[in-house]
Amino acid sequence: MVTNENYEKPAHVPDDFFVPGNIWEAMGDRPHDRLQQIAKGREMIFLQTHQIPGHSPQGTWLAGSARVARQILLDSATFSSNNVTGFARLLGNDLIYFPVDVDPPAHTRYRALIAKYFMPASVSALREVVRSRIDTLLDGIIAKGGCEFVAEFAKVLPATIFLDLMGLPRERADEFLKWADVSLCAPTPQERIAAMVCIRDYLASEIECRQKDPRNDILSALTNGEIDGRRLEFREALGGAMVLYIAGLDTVAGQLGWIFRHLALEGTGGMAWRLEFGCLRSCCSFSYWNLLSPRYVSSFLLLLMWCLFF
Ligand code: HEM
Repeated sequence: MVTNENYEKPAHVPDDFFVPGNIWEAMGDRPHDRLQQIAKGREMIFLQTHQIPGHSPQGTWLAGSARVARQILLDSATFSSNNVTGFARLLGNDLIYFPVDVDPPAHTRYRALIAKYFMPASVSALREVVRSRIDTLLDGIIAKGGCEFVAEFAKVLPATIFLDLMGLPRERADEFLKWADVSLCAPTPQERIAAMVCIRDYLASEIECRQKDPRNDILSALTNGEIDGRRLEFREALGGAMVLYIAGLDTVAGQLGWIFRHLALEGTGGMAWRLEFGCLRSCCSFSYWNLLSPRYVSSFLLLLMWCLFF
């Protein structure tokens, strides 16, 4: 691995775009604002240090606008997705981590295998299940008078829904979330590899089960999926399953955390209006100090989300 001492900026990166050092060590509690300060109006910068320890030791581009992100994602000749996850570097090149690690034209064929599960119609069909899970979670949180939002809502809700889609046991959600978390966030590659091995071995055994006994779930669709008139190889099905596992268990929880943190710290205006007319009755007994703490968001906000989105 390239250390700070012997790091050299790649020759193709213009000096004006380059941000040296490790910006992630001093993000503070408003990382989005901090990133904007670092970017200083530039739509694209090149960071010496990737956010995930050990990923891209040569440095990494960071898009600062949707326009540039789109441009990058559509230009696979310049910005290849080959090993964008970094999983192959950690676990070896045996698996195909599709669709995200694969460039067009193969990307399109792999992507088609899973696209139907995430189309608007498929997701809309889950509405009642999602609503009922939210109701159950909220009932428990209201009874307690509050919650630690990330652990008790943001992680639990998407995880259980995603595990159902994949055909994996909901009862093991805590363990699965831990593996996903460690595989992405642990400070050392050894810890990350150990978690990825747990995910890989577990999914491999589940895929083997579905080879003999297909079910009505995404894992079975991967196991028995076909591209170009041939059945997916085991290493493709397993790589695709690993991508989905980590994407499904990490991202939504993180995103909900950021959304609700923002609402807790800045949310007024339209939110307050809905509070007044929508759920004042339920909210009046909740403690407002929670709104000021980033990790602890009160049930007040959960109710707001319920009113806003459902
Ligand atoms: C709010 C939550 C989510 C965020 C912020 C998010 C973010 C992203 C981003 C930035 C990419 C592009 C990666 C790249 O090409 O370099 C991506 C791709 C992908 N995500 Fe998500 N994701 C979220 C939720 C999910 C969920 C729930 C799933 C599956 C259950 C999922 C599955 C995928 C897959 C399969 C790809 C690869 C797409 C392709 O290469 O065509 N994501 N996601």
